[in-house]
Parts: sequence; structure tokens; C-alpha cells
Amino acid sequence: MIELFAGKDRTRLLAAGRAAAATLAHVGERLRPGISTATIDQWVRAHTKALGGKPSQLGYHGFPASVCTSRNEVVCHGVPRADVVLGEGDIVNVDVTTELDGFHGDTSATFLLGEVSKEGRHVVDVARRCLEVGIAEVRDGARFGDVGAAIQALAEREGCSVVRDYGGHGIGRAMHGPPHVAHHGKRGTGTRLRAGMCFTIEPMINLGRPEVRVLDDEWTVVTADGRWSAQFEHTVLVTETGCTVLTRAT
Ligand code: MF3
Ligand code: CO
Ligand code: CO
Repeated sequence: MIELFAGKDRTRLLAAGRAAAATLAHVGERLRPGISTATIDQWVRAHTKALGGKPSQLGYHGFPASVCTSRNEVVCHGVPRADVVLGEGDIVNVDVTTELDGFHGDTSATFLLGEVSKEGRHVVDVARRCLEVGIAEVRDGARFGDVGAAIQALAEREGCSVVRDYGGHGIGRAMHGPPHVAHHGKRGTGTRLRAGMCFTIEPMINLGRPEVRVLDDEWTVVTADGRWSAQFEHTVLVTETGCTVLTRAT
């Protein structure tokens, strides 16, 4: 069952979304070559706390950090490490989830470190646009297949592929709940979106093949072919008149 949120719950969802967005922006302002991903974890821990929130990911099914940091060929769920130091030319996704007043907000962005190759810039640009075309489909009465189809069409037109093994998710009083939001699919298929639904859209877009594998740390997801991957994520609320992006930076 997909929960429908109304009234004060929507206000709290927005507050949690804004907190996550503020922490992601805080990280984005400070990122530069020479920073380790463990340092990003410290920034997220401190900033989330300063806002009165809790990092939802810390301890989630045993996840050992407050944030996921996914560099270059890492697709998602990268574990911050002191020995992963960001270098000139890298790309890194920072994925922040904040619990505030009993509700969660979830957002991520892929950042460029200094001068990035044309291919690197391409996959980041396509992933950003894929999230936006997905969001543009969100309204009462649309279907989840419309969201997936719009994302898949853009990614493939741009010569990239869409990761199938992970998707967006319902969010609210828990970080993860139904529905599963696929980033590929067929228009006119799937569950209908209804006012009050709250979920994430978070396309993972690869330069090469869509297949992924999980490293021995049992978290870090990498592309099977070793080519780079990029991701952007927002938490969205379906409203009576369209959609509110709860994690849009204000
Ligand atoms: N924020 C991630 C997502 O977008 C959650 C990752 S779960 C973790 O769904 F345990 F890896 F943190
Ligand atoms: Co998410
Ligand atoms: Co996330």
C-alpha cells in the first residue's frame, strides 16, 4: 500500500526535504580535489545535527556512515573512506537522507572535481536531465511507467544506459517504502500516481552497459564494465495541482 500524506504531514515532509537539500548544498560548496570521502561524511554528520536532524542512512541495515559517496564507476551506496581522496577530474555523487521530526527527505547530486573529461561531463549532464524529465511526468493520474519511459528515452537517445537493479522508492516516516520507482519502462503502464504520494526519483545513468556488481564490502555498487555512472535524486510529493519537489534547494 502506498501511503497518502495530507495536512501537517506534508509540512513535515517538506521540512525534512529542505534539511536534506541544505546539507547537500553545504557539501557542494566545500567539495574540492584533495578531500576524502570520509571528510564528506563528517560534514554531513555535523550539518545534519546542526539542523536538528539525524542522518537516516547511519546504521541502516548496518550501513557504516551518514552519507553515500559514489565516485566515477561507483553507481551508488559508496561507503565513505579516508583513503578515497577525490582528485582533479573525478565525479562524485553525494547522497544525503535526513530524518527530521519523524519524516525523511532524500536527495543526491553528482559533482565535478575540477576539469572533467567530455565523457564524464556528458554522463553527469544526462543524469541531471533524466531526473528533470522524470519529475516533469509527476501529476495526479499519471503512471509510474510514464516516469520510467521518459527517463529511459532520454538516456538512450544520449547513448547512455539506465541501471535496472536499483530504483526510487516511497518515503515518509521511513526512508524506504513502497512503491519501487523504476527508471525505465513503458508509457501508460504501472500504478497510477495520486495526490499525497511521496517518493524519490533517482536515475542511475551509465556511460556503458547497465549491469552492476556489488563489491566485497557488500555495499559499494559499481558498473560491471568499469565505465562511469552518474546520479541525481529528488524527493517529490504529488499534489492536487501537480507536484512539489521537496528537496529543491531554496
Ligand atoms: N539515500 C539512498 C537512496 O537513495 C539510501 C541508501 S541506503 C544506505 O535510497 F544504507 F546505503 F545508505
Ligand atoms: Co533514495
Ligand atoms: Co538517496
